[in-house]
Amino acid sequence: MNRDATYEAPSNIAFVKYWGARDPDRAVPWNRSISMTLDRCRTRCTVEHVRSREAEQVLFRPAPGAPLAPAPGPFAARVTAHLDRLRRASGRDARLRVATENSFPAAAGLASSASGFAALTLAATAALGVHATPGELSSLARQSGSGSAARSVFGGYVEWPRDFGDESVSAHVLAPAEHWDLRDVIAVVDASPKPVSSRDGHLRATTSPYFDRRLDRIDRRVEAVRAAIAERSLERMGPVIEDEAIDLHLIAMSSAPPIFYWKPATLAVLEAVRRLRDDRTAAWATMDAGANVHVICDPASEDKVARALQRVPGVQSVLRDRVGPGPRAVAEPVR
Ligand code: DP6
Repeated sequence: MNRDATYEAPSNIAFVKYWGARDPDRAVPWNRSISMTLDRCRTRCTVEHVRSREAEQVLFRPAPGAPLAPAPGPFAARVTAHLDRLRRASGRDARLRVATENSFPAAAGLASSASGFAALTLAATAALGVHATPGELSSLARQSGSGSAARSVFGGYVEWPRDFGDESVSAHVLAPAEHWDLRDVIAVVDASPKPVSSRDGHLRATTSPYFDRRLDRIDRRVEAVRAAIAERSLERMGPVIEDEAIDLHLIAMSSAPPIFYWKPATLAVLEAVRRLRDDRTAAWATMDAGANVHVICDPASEDKVARALQRVPGVQSVLRDRVGPGPRAVAEPVR
């Protein structure tokens, strides 16, 4: 039976980062990673069957309220390649139309590929009638080349183990969202697309003279973050995730050729976060491959953190998110 399907999947913020890939196209990482699945930053994706004479299409909504438009070429090509992969996995040769939209402003410069490829994987496998376990869906999502999509298939706190290219290894939940209510206050300092893609960053990472040193420290970091999640201890987790984010950027800046994701306002936000801590507010920063800063804090500190970030010169907007329960099937398609 041809079933159309719509899924929403959230973005996630990594506490221990996937940075450096043995094979970036299959997202085979050098190290394990841990993330918190977000709640409000989501992608909604509809996959519909089209009649055999109709053209396949990949559509996306460029801004909230705007009409759907053909997706830009490189993104459409990645979506089509992933659909082909899922069709091969299902053994079904259906003609499909994809429509996708983000809940967060495209101009916020936030990564949408984790939520985008997780939502696409869930909607397409449902439309193709694939019966897969959550672990298999995570593994399929990561084969899109967006490794972080493997984690967005789950809610709460998620670990993606090192897998040496074994596609049966998938991400799994360390703790559900209700275990620990953490907030992510996001200081948007640069809304433009990142200058170097994560894919190129993953490839270049091993050229850094500090890459092996980073790998030596990862296991201890993973253990510390796991323990902090189990104990719900922000004081224990905060310093580890902030060091870890700085490490990613140290590797990027010392790669050949170097990659600078930070802007002057990134440093100003890091300074503001240190001042918050001097003022006895538990708030800790983390950054993905970009200039924006995610500040992790308790619900009681969220308003104070948001006000402090808003005042930092160079901050364009402040978004508020929190740990969330993960993807869900929704009735309302993307139209
Ligand atoms: C810095 O290859 O998953 O966010 O496909 O661009 O989202 P995109 O990147 P991906 O690498 C993620 C890199 C990271 C760290 C992380 O999320 O673990």
